[in-house]
Amino acid sequence: MESPFKPDILKGKVALVTGGGSGIGFEISTQLGKHGAAVAIMGRRRSILDTAVGALRSQGIRAIGFQGDVRKQEDARRVIESTIGHFARLDILVNGAAGNFLASPEDLSTNGFRTVLDIDSVGTYTMCYEALKYLKKGGSGKDQSTGGLILNISATLHYTAAWYQIHVSAAKAAVDSITRSLALEWGTDYEIRVNGIAPGPIEGTPGMQKLAPEEMKNKAREYMPLYRLGEKWDIAMAALFLASHAGKYINGTTIIVDGGHWLSRPRH
Ligand code: HXC
Repeated sequence: MESPFKPDILKGKVALVTGGGSGIGFEISTQLGKHGAAVAIMGRRRSILDTAVGALRSQGIRAIGFQGDVRKQEDARRVIESTIGHFARLDILVNGAAGNFLASPEDLSTNGFRTVLDIDSVGTYTMCYEALKYLKKGGSGKDQSTGGLILNISATLHYTAAWYQIHVSAAKAAVDSITRSLALEWGTDYEIRVNGIAPGPIEGTPGMQKLAPEEMKNKAREYMPLYRLGEKWDIAMAALFLASHAGKYINGTTIIVDGGHWLSRPRH
């Protein structure tokens, strides 16, 4: 689908997208790139990164992949420093890396719970922490007139409660809280904007494959206000809006992009 945004809105910007090799993270990387940004993607699997970087470059996007696990602080630091080494600056950090599986609390070990919090919540914090000095106003590019942007990919599961998602719900609740705290402190001190996007069910993502088998998808449609699943494109457009000048006064919020799904209940 054609973007409503001009192709140069992110010209000269550099983005780092964790989990950028697949799913929503890859579509965000693609759209940031198509709108002028150079894009570094971070992920655990080399082959996925290589394929993704190839696909980005084939569209004329300046892209590079760095292998790393957001749970490891040394990886976070190395990938951020490599991004600076390669593109000389960092303007946009997208925290898209996430872990997920279905498990009831009866069957979910403490380590399973902790693993997802480590990836989603602690990983998000670690990336923000390590990126701070480059995202600060003037911290990377000499000509940087404002601070950078952090975008945390969240979910809507924790607005109510979701079956078999106690770990992910807790992790994303923490992510939203991190978004607000950093928006307050780094917005005030460094003009860094920190926002989130909470996707609903998005077709063709690893999350949907894991969480919603085919038969559930059709049933869900019956009570979805927009009568369809979202597209990765919908999330990427929200990311573009927040990353562009149009979003300059938006700080500390998590935009829900779910067609109103989280509000809905089955019809009686
Ligand atoms: C129960 C499980 C489990 C499962 C792992 N664990 N999978 N418990 N059911 N299916 C437990 C393990 O038993 C172990 O605890 C602990 O978790 C760590 O598991 P490991 O396999 O050692 O961890 P690791 O290899 O690091 O993998 C972690 C992972 C990750 C979370 C499973 O690989 C992963 O999920 N990758 C997929 C990424 C993904 O799908 N991303 C999209 C996210 S979508 P014990 O006690 O045995 O040591 C998303 C959307 C949310 O986030 C909102 C949707 C609407």
